[in-house]
Amino acid sequence: MAENTFYLTTPIYYVNDLPHIGHAYTTVATDALARYKRLKGYEVLFLTGTDEHGQKVEKAATEAGLKPIELADKVVVRFQELWKRLNISNDDFIRTTEKRHKRALISIWEEVEKSGDIYLGEYEDWYCTPCETFLTASQLSQGKCPDCGRTVERLREASYFFRLSKYGDRLIEHIEKNPEFIRPENRKNEIVSFIKEGLRDLSISRTTFSWGIPVPDDPSHVMYVWFDALTNYLAGAGYPDVEEEESFWPADVHIIGKDILRFHAVYWPAFLMSAGLPLPGKIFAHGWWTVEGSKMSKSLGNVVDPFQVAAEFGVDQFRYFLLREVPFGADGDFSLAQLKGRINGELANDLGNLLSRSLSMIEKYREGLVPEPAEAKDRTELEGRLKTLFAELPGRFDGSMGELNFYKALSDTWRLVREMNGYVEKAAPWKEKDPETLSNVLYTLAEGLRIMALYLYCFMPESSEKIWAQLAIGEKIEGKDFDSGVNWGGLSPGLKIKKGAPLFPRVE
Ligand code: MSP
Repeated sequence: MAENTFYLTTPIYYVNDLPHIGHAYTTVATDALARYKRLKGYEVLFLTGTDEHGQKVEKAATEAGLKPIELADKVVVRFQELWKRLNISNDDFIRTTEKRHKRALISIWEEVEKSGDIYLGEYEDWYCTPCETFLTASQLSQGKCPDCGRTVERLREASYFFRLSKYGDRLIEHIEKNPEFIRPENRKNEIVSFIKEGLRDLSISRTTFSWGIPVPDDPSHVMYVWFDALTNYLAGAGYPDVEEEESFWPADVHIIGKDILRFHAVYWPAFLMSAGLPLPGKIFAHGWWTVEGSKMSKSLGNVVDPFQVAAEFGVDQFRYFLLREVPFGADGDFSLAQLKGRINGELANDLGNLLSRSLSMIEKYREGLVPEPAEAKDRTELEGRLKTLFAELPGRFDGSMGELNFYKALSDTWRLVREMNGYVEKAAPWKEKDPETLSNVLYTLAEGLRIMALYLYCFMPESSEKIWAQLAIGEKIEGKDFDSGVNWGGLSPGLKIKKGAPLFPRVE
């Protein structure tokens, strides 16, 4: 693997449906981590894309009167537009209908076959098409799919099988030796019990439809859509053409939703072991969103359109809400009242006001010039407390980001935003008579805001850049070094600030 690199992925999204907030959630979270890692000096590969093969897409296309590729070509644009709209900094976008993906897929199939792990057999079981999952009778819930509750079909067909049963012990060993491999802990425990119940060989080809990549030397079969889809992560790293030392593989983290953990934490590592390839460092399964207390579903008509939320409330407001509302890993509820509450209470009041008040005072008392900090004469305690908190934050923040605990990273940062507000009240610059002390207070506010923007950048990139622009820093946060940037004292006195429009307008 190449040095000092960080490779992270989102799931690739099915093109049978338009993007909704669930998709936006995974991608925004991955973007936050990618941006953070870049600021930490890593060479980052952030991959997302679309999952375009399989029965589900074929069915949706038929219903729409289109060829599967025509449907894919249409829907993929919506995903790409959404990522642009949400300021997602993915370095690459992969479609499973691309040549490079097909090449990787055939290659891994052949490696797995060489290991003797593929055999031809016959498959008969229940199948849930919306979830693209085979189910045993005991997995059904009242005769329906346990995950989505929809009707399942009985399928019997010739199929190639992968000897998954052979990998149970090795998987358990890997999970035990690498406590960070599956996160969070409760999800890991579920996977461990699933493996310990005993793994059945897995059907990895289908003959009842044709929208997929044909099995090498037996084109009457197409590869199982999950075998196909998971390989995107290798293809995105240039497998099999890029030399191991040059490659971003293995991925550092796959960020996914809890519903697709088994594919990522059992099947995928087993395929990789069979092919003799290294395993990803971490698989993190986040929770699911309900909407105003109900499951989000087309039939209920409550599917939240991320384009609409962004248009109505703002991109950064939406991004902030997604990562601030619930701990990453837990389920959450998307409600307008909560969204508005966070925007008005935290973004408009706590942060937006702090910025506009601070800049107004610099305009009023110092003609808009960031003052030279002076040794405070009688306020050392106030500033001292604030500076101690600023000095403690990097360690806590790095720790939280390392655990993908975006919620904690944000709440710790917010604690400081609130401390800064408390500081303004106590320092009361509008009453201050001593010019040196006043300079010091104003510098402290401006410098605190500069640093806050660095912390918030990975969550709210546009607004954070705006804070820097209003402080007239003359440089972009993107491309900066986080560790030196968050040290106190980096702001140059003498900059002529440019107070702008309110960063986060209140919403009704
Ligand atoms: N194509 C597969 C993934 C293959 S990855 C090799 C797939 N696609 S998907 O479009 O159905 O879903 C992708 C992601 O969206 C999953 O991580 C899933 O958890 C997430 N979400 C879908 N609905 C969601 C919510 N209501 N809430 C949160 N995330 C949800 O699965």
